[in-house]
Amino acid sequence: MATPHPPSTTTAGTGRCPFTGHSATEPQATDDVGGARASEWSPDRNETFGSAHADYAALREQNPFPWSADYGGFWAATTYEDILTITQDDELFSTAKQNVVPHVPRASRRPPLHFDPPEHTDYRTAIDPVFRRSVVTEHAGAFRDSARRLVDGMLMESSPDGVRHLAAPFAMDCFASLLGLARDQTREIREIGVRYGFAIQDMDNPVIEECSKRLYEIAREIYDRRLEEDPDPSRDLVASLHRAALDPDTAITETSAVATIRQLIVAGMGAPQAVLGSCIAHLATDLDLQAHLRAHPEDLPSAIEEMLRLHAPYRVFARTAKRDTVIHGRAVAQDEPIALIFPSANRDETRFEDPDTFVLRRKQNSHLSFGRGSHKCPAATMGRLELLIALEELLARTETFSLAGDIVMMNWLEYGPRSVPLALRSADRMP
Ligand code: HEM
Repeated sequence: MATPHPPSTTTAGTGRCPFTGHSATEPQATDDVGGARASEWSPDRNETFGSAHADYAALREQNPFPWSADYGGFWAATTYEDILTITQDDELFSTAKQNVVPHVPRASRRPPLHFDPPEHTDYRTAIDPVFRRSVVTEHAGAFRDSARRLVDGMLMESSPDGVRHLAAPFAMDCFASLLGLARDQTREIREIGVRYGFAIQDMDNPVIEECSKRLYEIAREIYDRRLEEDPDPSRDLVASLHRAALDPDTAITETSAVATIRQLIVAGMGAPQAVLGSCIAHLATDLDLQAHLRAHPEDLPSAIEEMLRLHAPYRVFARTAKRDTVIHGRAVAQDEPIALIFPSANRDETRFEDPDTFVLRRKQNSHLSFGRGSHKCPAATMGRLELLIALEELLARTETFSLAGDIVMMNWLEYGPRSVPLALRSADRMP
């Protein structure tokens, strides 16, 4: 896709926006050029690990709420305050019209993400209890078995890769454990899920539609197979949704319950893979921190919180305004998409002291990696547990690991690496 404006270099100190030439201190009214709004920013298509943050810092300083003509056109909310405000105002902002940038063509809306309260609340009422700590920790043994098996396997690889051999299959295994999936279903979900993810990044609509259709069929198979086992609705996602679907007082139907499972397949695999990949890359490039955490695993929860802040995986979740409004001095028209750049909010200098630095046991760390408001991630406990177990096993089963090549980043859709080539030394604990 063409980039219709200057490269993303900063002009720090000049007070002029490098993207528009406007003064950063004067909020700009919407600019219309020949009927189309002038583009002020393009996401970098050739990111390296962490490089997007220089871009976001320049935006926060000089043009914190830019319009981009890319991906069909969207506003980018980059500050902590704006993202907090937008995510917490369901009366003004909706996910029903367009909840990601770019807009993904789809035959139907998938709960809970594509619905607003009050309907949305019915789905969260069914989903949230199944993600409570006491239920999620029941899967800790399965998560750990997977992590051990994958790390040991990675140690045997001739070209080990932290994403291909650990982060991606681990996220898949954890999701499969949560839903009680059979191995054949697990394998197919991963294959289709990966293809779907790349097709979305390439905006390859025929493949998106083909994969989306298959993921629906898989969701239906999961739903039917699981119910045959008659699981406990207070601990099982499918059973909980099914129970709600039978209740005429909820907005949930059997069809929308299957659509919810379909939504979870993508949500449950994408973010943990992206963040775990970033954590592995982070530790492979900070060997002192790696050694410290290997010697002091009790510091891992705090380190993970800080890595979640530094490497939030989502920047494409979006809202549209239900009516014309003004954000950060910019006139936002009804239905125009606003991307929530969570990775930028997490390094907002007005909120976090020394925001680009990793600080173990950071005192104030209310990052937005799991979102806020009604759509806040229902699975934050599970996400944190996945990261903890994967990193505990990786650190315990290795003496050291470092980068063995260039980190390759994913495209715009998720913020995280697609490949982290590693050189690993075993801790000689393999059975
Ligand atoms: C480290 C791991 C994870 C991170 C950082 C993360 C992040 C997020 C964020 C930022 C949102 C809010 C999106 C918005 O406001 O538009 C979200 C929503 C969601 N996440 Fe997660 N997530 C993670 C893991 C998971 C897992 C493991 C699952 C499922 C097994 C999951 C399922 C969902 C669902 C269903 C939603 C939509 C909630 C709603 O619309 O009410 N997430 N996640």
